[in-house]
Amino acid sequence: MLKIVKSDIIAVAVRPQQYPPDDMAEVAFAGRSNVGKSSLLNFLTGRKKLAKVSSSPGKTRTINFYLINDSFRIVDLPGYGYAKVSKSVSKNWGQMMNRFFESREGLRKVILLVDIRHKPTKQDVQMYDFMKYYGLDGPVIATKSDKVKKSEMNKNLQLIRKTLDMSDEAEIIPVSVLKKSGKDKLLSAIEQIVADE
Ligand code: GTP
Ligand code: MG
Repeated sequence: MLKIVKSDIIAVAVRPQQYPPDDMAEVAFAGRSNVGKSSLLNFLTGRKKLAKVSSSPGKTRTINFYLINDSFRIVDLPGYGYAKVSKSVSKNWGQMMNRFFESREGLRKVILLVDIRHKPTKQDVQMYDFMKYYGLDGPVIATKSDKVKKSEMNKNLQLIRKTLDMSDEAEIIPVSVLKKSGKDKLLSAIEQIVADE
């Protein structure tokens, strides 16, 4: 079982020249702004302040690379769907994503985060389609699972699965940072992703 014993931020990038060398397995976290990507990274690493978390969306605006156990990287991607950004900022966001997805040999999978309470947005569907197109679709994380009743959980997970048109093999993992649940399942998924050639 993967245990994260070491984590460091090693690069903050907007341009490929600022990426670390493409010499290691990477798994990226993608999703709407405020869905909980940075919180999830802190939860997994057990470090409360590794990635900046905010209740106002649009906190992470750069591509942040974290070195895990000196052996692979988790990449925290900037969120999308943040209403207040200008047209030029959202154009830059798209360019930034395209360059990242197209240029990283080491990028094994992208893990999409969606809020367990809501039907995935058009942009979530677009992002997942984009990931599928590149063969980078990995497990989907349903975040903030503490916000739904146990009885509603399955219905919401099914709606997410259906809306994203996930394959039967694709995994969907409910996680709550607040309740500290879902961590083992996610770590074992990540372990498998980075082990795969
Ligand atoms: P951007 O950086 O803007 O893309 O957002 P992000 O996806 O990194 O979200 P972030 O981790 O900053 O979290 C956004 C808000 O959601 C914060 O107020 C978190 O405390 C809250 N949050 C994250 N995970 C959970 C969870 O499991 N349960 C609950 N209840 N709140 C959570
Ligand atoms: Mg963030």
